[in-house]
Amino acid sequence: MSAKSKSVFVCSACQHQEPKWLGRCPECGSWNSLREAAPAAAPRSAARAEEAQSVPLDAIQIREGLRLDAGIEEVNRVLGGGIMKGSAVLIAGEPGTGKSTLMLQLASRVRTEGRTLYVSGEESPAQIRLRAERLGVTGGRIEVFPATELAAVLRTCDRLKPVVLIVDSIQTVYSEDIGTVPGTVNQVRLCGQELIGWAKTHGAALFLVGHVTKEGYIAGPKVVEHMVDTVLYFETGSSGIRLLRAVKNRFGSVDEIGIFQMGDAGLAQVENPAALFLTRRDGELPPGVVAAPVYEGTRVLLVEIQSLVVPAKGGISRVFSDRIDAGRVSRMAAVLEKHLKARLADQDLYVNVGGGLRIAEVGIELPLAMALYSARLNQPVPALTAVVGEVSLAGELRPVPHLDRRARAVAEMSFTRLVCPAGGMPEGPGRAGVAGAHAEFAGLRPAATLAEAVRACFTATA
Ligand code: TYD
Ligand code: MG
Repeated sequence: MSAKSKSVFVCSACQHQEPKWLGRCPECGSWNSLREAAPAAAPRSAARAEEAQSVPLDAIQIREGLRLDAGIEEVNRVLGGGIMKGSAVLIAGEPGTGKSTLMLQLASRVRTEGRTLYVSGEESPAQIRLRAERLGVTGGRIEVFPATELAAVLRTCDRLKPVVLIVDSIQTVYSEDIGTVPGTVNQVRLCGQELIGWAKTHGAALFLVGHVTKEGYIAGPKVVEHMVDTVLYFETGSSGIRLLRAVKNRFGSVDEIGIFQMGDAGLAQVENPAALFLTRRDGELPPGVVAAPVYEGTRVLLVEIQSLVVPAKGGISRVFSDRIDAGRVSRMAAVLEKHLKARLADQDLYVNVGGGLRIAEVGIELPLAMALYSARLNQPVPALTAVVGEVSLAGELRPVPHLDRRARAVAEMSFTRLVCPAGGMPEGPGRAGVAGAHAEFAGLRPAATLAEAVRACFTATA
């Protein structure tokens, strides 16, 4: 290529650019990750864009039926109420999570009169057919196209006019205009742009599958994240549980998670997700274990926080926690140290969430603090006690939204008490405070401070 002098080397792990090749990326430290990338070719969509004109806001027509029913409730939920036509979704996950399985199931269940085109550069049509038979998927409307060359894919799209277009995976597609090696940053960017452009102009829903490395990088497809409307991460929890989570969504919130169980017939919806992450035990709990009703999107899930506290080697405390932010664990440890005189500064703190759910909700703070306290004192929290609440640095408890719904969920799971913040939320939706929660559950134990919560938690069940 004549543009040699202008080409750059881009790290396939973190997209860092260098003017010359290096064995190791100076940005993220990955070895052998730099790839030569020619300056991006002008995309064909640029020509299309010229036709576009501005429109007065009031003059924009909202067309009926903009969303398609995915036929899979958990997918609808995560996308914000169905698949948006003319939108692009990146579904990213580690190999083996079940992305291809989910896409094939979606292809067969999506409610549309139009066609679904499944472009696969990963598997042969025979392999796809075998998988489809295993999943019990039949569908005259699903067209399978085992191609990886972009122009061929676009020609097929023009001919078939699919309403749903699935490309599995974006790393296998290449455009001959800029070389024949798929998966480079430039290929992924150009092919992503062209496919998204096609979907937008034809009002089709596009799903791009992207592989993520073990370290969590979307190698290559990171560039696609900025171009698509929605980014979904498909993650593996424990014992066959799969979690679908939106990390970016132009058409809905990013709080919702979809929960599936991988079984013999593919991915199945979970009947009672509230109980899915809870470990049922008879009798006394081990120390360090606390149940918590967390609010994920629009539903309450009961989870088990597990913590282990052991003397630190060399006296320097470390936090091992990948399901709850380690900074939050350190903060709770500091608050316990200051306000309850629990000695944690010379301990290693291990924290886990049963079922492998990652939790970012603030309501997890009080149960986390109680789990650490229970582990440190080697004293179990009495059985059938659940805990929820935010904890301030001053050791006070702050109210959490939807206490009434959390209380109802706890009652339904036959817990006998819920230790929670005493203060009420300001008025507003989801703000029903302690009074509302009391109406749902008589076992409510409001506490104003961390010290009161400890008293409410560790006394035997009344
Ligand atoms: P797959 O969809 O190929 O994952 P990805 O496309 O994300 O790489 O599914 C991978 C795993 O799922 C594979 O290890 C086998 C398992 N699986 C089942 O357990 N049950 C099934 O019905 C199917 C189709 C797959
Ligand atoms: Mg696959």
